[in-house]
Amino acid sequence: MAMLQPALALPFLLLLLTAAAAGLPGGRTLVFILAGQSNMSGRGGATNGTWDGIVPPECAPSGRILRLSPALRWEEAREPLHDGIDVGNVVGIGPGMPFAHAVLAATSSGSDSVVVGLVPCAQGGTPIANWTRGTELYERMVTRARAAVAECSGRGELAGVLWFQGEADTMRREDAELYRRRMETLVHDVRRDLGRPDLLVIQVGIATAQYNGKFLDVVREAQKAVTLPNVKYVDAMGLPIASDHTHLTMEAQIQLGNKLAKSYLGTLQ
Ligand SMILES: *[C@@H]1O[C@H](CO)[C@@H](O)[C@H](O)[C@H]1NC(C)=O
Ligand SMILES: *[C@@H]1O[C@H](CO)[C@@H](O)[C@H](O)[C@H]1NC(C)=O
Ligand SMILES: *[C@@H]1O[C@H](CO)[C@@H](O)[C@H](O)[C@H]1NC(C)=O
Repeated sequence: MAMLQPALALPFLLLLLTAAAAGLPGGRTLVFILAGQSNMSGRGGATNGTWDGIVPPECAPSGRILRLSPALRWEEAREPLHDGIDVGNVVGIGPGMPFAHAVLAATSSGSDSVVVGLVPCAQGGTPIANWTRGTELYERMVTRARAAVAECSGRGELAGVLWFQGEADTMRREDAELYRRRMETLVHDVRRDLGRPDLLVIQVGIATAQYNGKFLDVVREAQKAVTLPNVKYVDAMGLPIASDHTHLTMEAQIQLGNKLAKSYLGTLQ
C-alpha cells in the first residue's frame, strides 16, 4: 500500500470498499440485466454529439451499486453505465442508476444490506430480431448475466431483466405484427438459458416510433398483449423527450428508473 501513488491509491481503496460491500455478511447482490435499444442504454444529456457529463444525485455513484464491466468484472457503477457496451454510439444517462438508487432506498434496512448489481447489455437502434437466441446481442446478454452471478461468490441473485426496446420494430408492418411472438420467445429463451423459469421481466411500453414508424400502436398493443407470468409492463408514454425528438431526457430517465423500481418492488409484496 505504501508504495502506491496517491493517484492510484484512491481507485484502489474504492475497489476494496466495493468488494467489502459486495461481501458483507448476510448481504445479497440483486442482479439486474438492462437490455434493449438506445433509451435503455441512455442518451440523457447526450443528444448533441457528446455527453454533457452532468450526473444528477439520482445517478451518483454508490458503494452499493455495481456494474458488470465489458470485461465481465464488477466495478463501482458510474455514468454513463453503457460505456464500452453500446458501442459506436454516444452514451449518456439511462434509467439504470436511478432504478438502483430507488431499489436500495426501499430494500435496505439495518444490517440486511443489499447491493444492486447492474448488467448493461443494450445496443442502440436494434430491432428485436437482433435479440433472438443465437444472435450476437442475445449471446452477449446471456454470457454477461451468467458471469454477473458467478462473480458474486454465491451471494448473487438474478432479480430481473429490464427491457426497453421496440421502437425499431415500428417501421415495417411485418415486424410490428411479429413483435408479440418474438418477445414471448425471447422471454422463454432467456429464462431457459439462465435456468430461471420464473425470472422477472419488466418491459417498457414505447411511446414513439423510430424514424416516424407507422406501426407504433401495433407494437404497443403487442407489448401489452404479452401475458406470460411474471412479465410486468411500465409505460414510457408521456415522459419528456429531448430536442432530438428521439430520446428520453435525463429527467425522463430518472422518472423511468423510479417507475421500473416501483414495478420491481411491487413484485416483492
Ligand atoms: C449542443 O452543442 C452546441 C455546440 O457544440 C452547444 O452550443 C449547445 O449548447 C449544445 N446544446 C445542448 C442542449 O447541450
Ligand atoms: C442486426 O441484424 C442485422 C441483420 O441480421 C445485422 O446486419 C446487424 O449487424 C445486427 N446488428 C447488431 C448490433 O447485432
Ligand atoms: C426513446 O423513447 C422515447 C419515448 O418512448 C421515444 O419517443 C423514442 O422514439 C425512443 N427512441 C428510440 C431511438 O428508440
